[in-house]
Amino acid sequence: MRKAIIAGNWKMHLGLREAEALLHALRASCETDVIDVVVCPPFTALAAAAKILAGSSLGLGGQDLCWEPQGAFTGAISPVMLRDVGCRYVIVGHSERRTHFGETDEIIHRKLRAALAHELIPIMCIGETRQEREQRKTFEVLTRQLAGAFRDCERWDCARVVLAYEPVWAIGTGTHATPEQAQEAHQFIRQWLVKRCGAPIGDAKRIQYGGSVTPANAASLLQQPDVDGALVGGASLKSEAFGAIVKAALDVKAAGRPAR
Ligand code: 13P
Repeated sequence: MRKAIIAGNWKMHLGLREAEALLHALRASCETDVIDVVVCPPFTALAAAAKILAGSSLGLGGQDLCWEPQGAFTGAISPVMLRDVGCRYVIVGHSERRTHFGETDEIIHRKLRAALAHELIPIMCIGETRQEREQRKTFEVLTRQLAGAFRDCERWDCARVVLAYEPVWAIGTGTHATPEQAQEAHQFIRQWLVKRCGAPIGDAKRIQYGGSVTPANAASLLQQPDVDGALVGGASLKSEAFGAIVKAALDVKAAGRPAR
């Protein structure tokens, strides 16, 4: 049985005071051992977040990392630094990194390897653009991104990665994938993993959905047999909304999901 994982990607939002207030609110409302709950604040709030979340069940993650442990990489943050500040997770390959910062499948592969080498759990994002979907290239794009990221990875390395299917057209648009669209993509990703790494790893892989997840649509997405959590952007900036998404995941867990 896969343990659901709900993660909040705050992106480039919230100053230190606002971040601290949100973290205190989340600590009060989102404690649970039944599912994994993770927050990924901006780098500037990580140290404060680690203090506020100390001893809680909430996990802490960075939003990006450099592939090198240290060195002359002005502006970059290394996996060692993320570990040092208390992170267990790191987002890798978000579409905004691919689009705005020119990250290629090769760069993402190096970042994934670096995260794994330093015992961080990567939350690896993949997903197609609107145009790619309209051209019926979704599976082709997912295959390219998966093969690029996992190139040369051992099967047990693949096993340590959380995947996030984030269709680019659904991110920040208010248009989420339908539960059927999400399920179709997640099932495809899982089957790819089963082929690449074998059934025990593919079947155990946690695959989050991301893209305009809200309290209103979370349950219907999380009820899908291959949707094992959510990577939440905008709705993770409000404790009530994020708390409601966590609750939806707990309710789905209690009720059970249909088999595929
Ligand atoms: P939104 O939930 O704001 O659409 O963002 C999704 C996302 O990019 C999470 O990484």
